[in-house]
Amino acid sequence: MLSGKRILLIIGGGIAAYKTLDLIRRLRERGAAVTPVLTRAGAEFVTPLSVSALAGHKVHTDLFDLTEEAEMGHIQLSRSADLVVVAPATADLMAKMAHGHANDLASTLLMATDTPVLIAPAMNVRMWDHPATQRNLAQLLSDGLRVVGPNPGDMACGEYGPGRMSEPLEIVAAIESALGQGPLTGKHILVTSGPTHEPIDPVRYIANRSSGAQGAAIARALAGLGADVTFVTGPADVPPPAGVKVLRIETAQQMLQAVEDALPADAAIFAAAVADWRVASASGSKIKKDAGRLPVLEFAENPDILATVSQRKTLRPSLVVGFAAETDDVVAHATAKRARKGCDWIMANDVSPATGIMGGTENAVHLITAEGVEDWPRMSKQAVAERLADRIAAALR
Ligand code: CTP
Repeated sequence: MLSGKRILLIIGGGIAAYKTLDLIRRLRERGAAVTPVLTRAGAEFVTPLSVSALAGHKVHTDLFDLTEEAEMGHIQLSRSADLVVVAPATADLMAKMAHGHANDLASTLLMATDTPVLIAPAMNVRMWDHPATQRNLAQLLSDGLRVVGPNPGDMACGEYGPGRMSEPLEIVAAIESALGQGPLTGKHILVTSGPTHEPIDPVRYIANRSSGAQGAAIARALAGLGADVTFVTGPADVPPPAGVKVLRIETAQQMLQAVEDALPADAAIFAAAVADWRVASASGSKIKKDAGRLPVLEFAENPDILATVSQRKTLRPSLVVGFAAETDDVVAHATAKRARKGCDWIMANDVSPATGIMGGTENAVHLITAEGVEDWPRMSKQAVAERLADRIAAALR
């Protein structure tokens, strides 16, 4: 609940501004008071009238409105809230914030405020991936701003990728957690993700096709509920979500070390596709072609990180979740895997090529617990992540 909480909501100029109207409604349903500020570009997407009608509050639009300034100065406006939320946060607004511009009401408020700020970025995927935006994001995070999203998905401009603004309820959850009211606030959760790379020599390695999409979505969903997330990732295609502590590793052995160093944790989610074997003695120098002779690689077994953590006598997280990627007898194999490894839950999925799940955007999972098997319908990896995060929040309550 957000009763009595005051949110200063800055609405930037992006197509996602229409979702912000729903966000206002959701916030008010939960008892929050919303003071809206509409940028000039934002007013091209939603009207001041619809914003103020939903907020039940006058909408502020212009820095140089003297009548308004006499009623409530912009400095006071910037400090009269418990949280400032920027949704959608466009690339331009993020750039202004990162560089300290103050040339309109929204950017001036953001410069003048002494209350915490949460941004919900929304933009075209290439704008999000652009080094300038990523630099600005890093700056904003180091300045202590909180970020929710963006989510991957189809975009209004017809492209696909990260850039969609988080859904209103995800933003509500992020607001609750920013105000110290998320269901996972105060919980430390470890998430492993992506493939591992096992070196053959300094230039060659053995890897697998994991994109890291499911692990990143889980970390994002857990952080959205207020968890303090440590994200241990191999070299994945999908970038890590904002707002989590990222530990980058390459090999399975490094992943185990990073995980053990990050303990204690309340829960650990092992979504990484860890290589089962490494080359027993990787060459320190590049293996040269030797006419007619083929190199012979000898393998050694990698540590099983999930099993190692599940079977720890000390500092075992109270909830350990593994994944099982199977191509046949999915539930039977995954149930056996749960018992063999000693984890609490297994998220099992069918990765046979016909499903298109490996490397795709959707997933169909069975959640295997001590109580039995739950079959989840096929849904986006993001939706799987959110449902799992809700289950984890309920289990850790
Ligand atoms: N896992 C791990 N460390 C490993 C191998 C796997 O932590 N060295 C974790 C994965 O992150 C995943 C789970 O174990 O959560 C299942 O991995 P999987 O490779 O499917 O299981 P295996 O034990 O390798 O069984 P099999 O290859 O027979 O399917």
